[in-house]
Amino acid sequence: MKIAADRLPGPRGASQVGYLRRLFREPQPVLEELRDAYGPVCGLGSGPVRMAVVGDPDALGELFALSTDSFRWGHKFNVLGVVVGRSSLVVSDGAEHKRRRSSVQGAFSRRRLNGWIPTIVEQTDIAVDRLAQQLDGRASTVDLAPMARSLVLAVTVRAFFGDRFANRSEEIGALFARPQAYLESPVIRQFPHPLPGTARAKVRADRRALDAILDSEITALRGRPSDDQRDVLASLVADGSMSDGEIRDQVVTLIGAGFDTTTASLAWALWCAVLAPGVLPALRNEADDVLGPPGAPSAASAPDVLARLVLAGNTMRETLRLHPAGVISPREATVDLRLAGYLVPRGTLILWSPHLAGRDPGSWPDPLRFDPTRFADPTPEQSALGDAAWVPFGRGARNCIGFALAQMELTLMISRLAQRLDLSTTATEVPPAKGMVVNRPVGGVPMEVSVRV
Ligand code: HEM
Repeated sequence: MKIAADRLPGPRGASQVGYLRRLFREPQPVLEELRDAYGPVCGLGSGPVRMAVVGDPDALGELFALSTDSFRWGHKFNVLGVVVGRSSLVVSDGAEHKRRRSSVQGAFSRRRLNGWIPTIVEQTDIAVDRLAQQLDGRASTVDLAPMARSLVLAVTVRAFFGDRFANRSEEIGALFARPQAYLESPVIRQFPHPLPGTARAKVRADRRALDAILDSEITALRGRPSDDQRDVLASLVADGSMSDGEIRDQVVTLIGAGFDTTTASLAWALWCAVLAPGVLPALRNEADDVLGPPGAPSAASAPDVLARLVLAGNTMRETLRLHPAGVISPREATVDLRLAGYLVPRGTLILWSPHLAGRDPGSWPDPLRFDPTRFADPTPEQSALGDAAWVPFGRGARNCIGFALAQMELTLMISRLAQRLDLSTTATEVPPAKGMVVNRPVGGVPMEVSVRV
């Protein structure tokens, strides 16, 4: 049945070319320009490159409520396949997606997540101790972005492979660096081809090296089945519903989707916490109460620790509201749809935007101001509006599978870093953003840093 509805508003004719060219290079300002000119639900392009930008919280509610059968994630614009593999969750659809997702979901049970809390605090302490050694008691300007990357990587590698990989996190991280840079390169460079010696060929070589590591681990785990499934890989192997190739693709996907996004979010959180008056000292007081002194992680039970880190949790939420790691997330409509009263024809690439929703003036008072306390005691009306407009992890059957892990990591890391580091900057506002796949601050996180003793 055809849906009768209005055509999406948006630029027409040649004026679209400029928007399209810039959208995939610097999405944030282009999304805002489109919203200001045509509203938070608008259309762009035509024929095989027809797109809809959806940043209105109500329209996002409609989108997330639709059946996943109305969309395709393995669409022609999904360039992730070369890195994550054809059986990856992020490029799967229908029954295959459901089977793989249910297998992976088991690895992220609340019990397993809680088991990682001490590791996260411990790894944060190790990262700070390393920084202290480097600074040797002095205050100095340091870019904290590489530290954030190593820290998230160390936690990720332990969560995925257990302690047996304790010394291999930089080796694993190096195999993700080139693929991540490749996915951020201009679309034209990502055109599929088999030519040797090119950036794409190097990405394939990195993937083969990762596969070799994973193969030997999977073989070892199959050879000595154990009830101890603390890490993700052991859980996927024990689950038994995926082939070795599928397991490899999911592990590469999970690390790839989880590590860069969480690193970038931690970088934004440091910027936001340092620039917002009073936030850093308040975070420090809370950490002193809840986490105890460095070297002695809280004696409280694991879930209790997270529930008590109220300000750190709200700092994480506010950071992700203003700086979601993915500013747009694509899915292709496989049927004609109606969103916000507009016709979205089958074949349209829908770019839904947590960036626009997080800055929606109808949902957030003073939307561009960083204020973690807005989550502290909202009225029922603010709470409902905020709930619909806070979507950094998406919603529904295709939401982020790592959402609880990412929030837990960020909350604990923000709290411990604020407790152990003295940070200041002469900057008066956060840097501009860059990155199409992962939104990060231009220039990293250079700050005046000293370690509290
Ligand atoms: C701050 C950190 C993170 C953010 C902001 C984030 C955001 C997102 C978003 C927006 C989606 C797409 C949802 C959709 O298309 O509707 C997604 C999907 C996904 N994320 Fe995350 N993510 C983060 C961390 C992680 C972590 C830590 C992991 C794994 C350990 C992870 C694994 C995945 C996977 C596998 C999918 C695809 C799920 C599917 O298609 O079924 N992400 N994430």
